[in-house]
Amino acid sequence: MRVRVDLRFACARSIRPLERSADVLYKGRRSAGVPRQRAVHEMQIFPRTLNLLPLVGALVAAGGGAATVFAFWYWASPKHQQVGYAPEQPIAFSHRLHAGELGIDCRYCHANVERSAEAMVPSTQTCMGCHAVVKADSPLLEPLRRSWQTGEPVRWVRVHKLTDTVFFDHSAHLAVGIGCESCHGRVDHMEVVRVVEPIAMQWCLQCHRDPAPALRPRDAVTRMGYVRTEADAPRIADASRLQPPQHCSGCHR
Ligand code: HEC
Ligand code: HEC
Ligand code: HEC
Ligand code: HEC
Ligand code: HEC
Repeated sequence: MRVRVDLRFACARSIRPLERSADVLYKGRRSAGVPRQRAVHEMQIFPRTLNLLPLVGALVAAGGGAATVFAFWYWASPKHQQVGYAPEQPIAFSHRLHAGELGIDCRYCHANVERSAEAMVPSTQTCMGCHAVVKADSPLLEPLRRSWQTGEPVRWVRVHKLTDTVFFDHSAHLAVGIGCESCHGRVDHMEVVRVVEPIAMQWCLQCHRDPAPALRPRDAVTRMGYVRTEADAPRIADASRLQPPQHCSGCHR
């Protein structure tokens, strides 16, 4: 769209000076008694090739359209939002082992997730709370020990990432009883964290239109494999009183 507008603008800019110079030339010849119509025609101010302009314009606009589609396709689905994206991490940290087998609560490591927009990845200190003793000599933990000695944080690779044009807040979702599992899946089964939902606009809106099926008691937001029971009903938020934003400025702030 923008391409077409720019093109028109560009044409208007290059044609207007031509028209102006035609008028100047015409004024010069009027004194010689030549009618304006013929004068302009004879002068051939506009080269014949200019007749091709609409065609060239159409081609450029069509190309622009294709480029727009490509740009949208490309930017609208960067790797962070593609289901299955699972980058290699600097340390072979396993959620299956820590959150699954050992049963460590998500909030032990993602400590601020209920209070802030960001869930945050834990500091080296959080890991060292155990690994100063547990498997203290493991070669797999060498990068962790180096980070502990140098003070340089471990360079974890980001898995999920929205563009800066979108506002997202973890705490707002957890406060009403949306579990990690609804958006991140069975993390306790994952050796390596991967994207399981297409983290894109349609996906957000799908839940915002009808959040009821995803709601659970607030104390179960980090529980994996939660199944709703009759007894839980009084502890589940009333969906009709929630207002997940569906208007553009609700998410694009
Ligand atoms: C022992 C600490 C620990 C526990 C417990 C833990 N995590 Fe993590 N989590 C990490 C670390 C370290 C990373 C960064 C490395 C990675 O992505 O594997 C991470 C990354 C993640 C990511 C990907 C972040 C991104 O970049 O997009 C998600 C999602 C996640 N954790 C969810 C959970 C959930 C849900 C639970 C509870 C079921 C949980 N974690 C429990 C340490 C932990
Ligand atoms: C609450 C204690 C605890 C915390 C916190 C913890 N771990 Fe562990 N970790 C363990 C235990 C227990 C094992 C399994 C040891 C075994 O296999 O005998 C383990 C195993 C590992 C292993 C495999 C080591 C090997 O040689 O097999 C890695 C890698 C690891 N943890 C990384 C981390 C990282 C990175 C963090 C911080 C994000 C972390 N752990 C936080 C308890 C913890
Ligand atoms: C409503 C969906 C939703 C729920 C519920 C949710 N997350 Fe996320 N999570 C996301 C999205 C979307 C991102 C990417 C956010 C961004 O780029 O700003 C993300 C990013 C993360 C990250 C990467 C670091 C960060 O803060 O951006 C971690 C770690 C994480 N989530 C852990 C968790 C844990 C642990 C829970 C449960 C306690 C949880 N998430 C619940 C959707 C969710
Ligand atoms: C599984 C359901 C679910 C998914 C998926 C989900 N949301 Fe929500 N969202 C909710 C609910 C429920 C609320 C709470 C409404 C309330 O508090 O009344 C909410 C609230 C919000 C709010 C308002 C919070 C505030 O602080 O004003 C924003 C912004 C938001 N969501 C953005 C997103 C974005 C962006 C995504 C996708 C990346 C997303 N949500 C995915 C269910 C969901
Ligand atoms: C529930 C939250 C939510 C609402 C409401 C919403 N969007 Fe989005 N929008 C998103 C998310 C998430 C993305 C994907 C961002 C990314 O690529 O990381 C997105 C992407 C976009 C993009 C692609 C460019 C970009 O920023 O990545 C456009 C354009 C857009 N939205 C326009 C709109 C318009 C117009 C409305 C109102 C009709 C709207 N959105 C309402 C969440 C929302």
